[in-house]
Amino acid sequence: MVHSSAPTAPWWAHAVFYEIYPRSFQDSNGDGIGDLNGITARLDALRDLGVDAIWLTPIFPSPQVDFGYDISNYEAIDPMYGTMADFDHLIAEAKKRHIRVLLDMVMNHTSDKHPWFVESSRSRDNPKRDWYVWRDGKAPGQPPNNWQSLFGHSAWQYDARTQQWYYHKFYVQQPDLNWNNPDVQAAMFNTVRFWLNRGVDGFRLDAITTLFEDPELRDEPVLPGTNAFGDPNLDHTLTDNQPQVHTVLRDLRKIVEEYPGDRVLIGETYLSSVQELAKMYGSHNDELQLPMDMQLGTLNRMDAQAFRERLREAQTELHGNLPLFVFDNHDIARSWDRYGDGMHNAAIARVIAALQLTTRSVPLLYYGQAIGMVTTPPKTRAQVQDPIGRIGWPKEKGRDGERTPMQWTPGKNAGFSTAAKTWLPVAANYKTVNVQTESAQPDSLYLWYKHLIALRRSNPALRDGTEILLNTSDANVLSYLRLSPDGKHAVVVALNCTAQKHTVHFDLASYGLRSTHARTLLHSGEVAERVALHHLHLPPFAVWIGQVELPQ
Ligand code: GLC
Repeated sequence: MVHSSAPTAPWWAHAVFYEIYPRSFQDSNGDGIGDLNGITARLDALRDLGVDAIWLTPIFPSPQVDFGYDISNYEAIDPMYGTMADFDHLIAEAKKRHIRVLLDMVMNHTSDKHPWFVESSRSRDNPKRDWYVWRDGKAPGQPPNNWQSLFGHSAWQYDARTQQWYYHKFYVQQPDLNWNNPDVQAAMFNTVRFWLNRGVDGFRLDAITTLFEDPELRDEPVLPGTNAFGDPNLDHTLTDNQPQVHTVLRDLRKIVEEYPGDRVLIGETYLSSVQELAKMYGSHNDELQLPMDMQLGTLNRMDAQAFRERLREAQTELHGNLPLFVFDNHDIARSWDRYGDGMHNAAIARVIAALQLTTRSVPLLYYGQAIGMVTTPPKTRAQVQDPIGRIGWPKEKGRDGERTPMQWTPGKNAGFSTAAKTWLPVAANYKTVNVQTESAQPDSLYLWYKHLIALRRSNPALRDGTEILLNTSDANVLSYLRLSPDGKHAVVVALNCTAQKHTVHFDLASYGLRSTHARTLLHSGEVAERVALHHLHLPPFAVWIGQVELPQ
């Protein structure tokens, strides 16, 4: 039997998380870039949708090479986003609306402009030298080994002044910290405390699996073929997911637990298997509470069997922990495009929403997901903002496409900004795809999300129930039963993952339910208000959620 979240579960077990990319959410001062006061101004809209917690991607001072993921001061706010007073105001206003605030902690690397790195690169005997990963080359002009940056080409950068190379898993301007150095650990843990003391409710830990590398600096195995940057494919067995990361995660967990209020650690955990994901919770549930489960959200095709297999794994392999399902974020094309078939995208987006919000999981949404924002990649290399789009053009266009301004209204710049030019162009469809217009359309995607969130919150089976996969050999329709802990509420969800209509048959007797009918709670496509469980007719890509009629 799969565990359900107990009645005493911490707040995050029932929360809807929402990722905000501050540059693109709401501009309050007309410079074409979003800011903290903009976010504060939109808190009511978030509350209206049913959001419980927001995660802000980095808002700290940064040269903005990687739009904030290159931090030059961990204990301040980038003036582009506002002031510390604006931040405190945002926290206070969010609290009034029962919205928690999480920050993004980038612990793998700093900016090359961070004073630590400036010091470190001064001389080989500088006290901060060992805070970063400096090594001699293999031979003159040759990096220490074959390791690559995830953003293209060698992960080693030569420094002529001190005649050594430094390691950077990401951009050249993002030197990796040396996590084997206890001073680095202490400094980073202090910044974590700094923000906990200011009242943040937790963190999303950036690139957390890349903190450590093989101490012997062995070459990584070369795989066949080349990547989008034209480099040989490598198997990242020596620069990713090294075992030492678990010690750091346990230390971090201890720190957040020193604070009241169930502060939470979310991890950016792209992992190759559910078994690796399971380890991120810790063998004694003493690491991350919510490592991101990217398996379901990056399947990139509508496939009932594959969805079911992912749900089954999340139930059986995570030691009873809740998965955190993510479909959209600021690094991958929007799910609208990855799952859409070009003809039924609107219906498919509803299926994805239901999958994320009616399964036994914690959902993490991305701004724009609930209105159906599309990926709008740059058309020419000259338009590219995200450097990887320039390094890898045209195969890799970068991540601008999923970072375009939030679409609030059909007005100027979609209500995002009053500027003449916004930092990225507003997507062309903003006149119809926006919060204001969709709020007034009963059948909009936005209201679909809103209804799903409300249902998830109010229905005991969807909120806390166990999850039983039904009709497990059906290749077309994904179905599951949610059963409330007291057994008094049973909800069946059926998701037609195909472009054909299908009829499904549910026999719930083996679960102790002798019911024959269910009352429709929510549906897309034409489905009756009361349905016979032995004969449910589902139009293409339809969603049906029904409350099973239980004998009194
Ligand atoms: C994470 C972030 C990504 C960033 C990278 C380096 O993957 O999500 O946006 O570029 O880390 O910090």
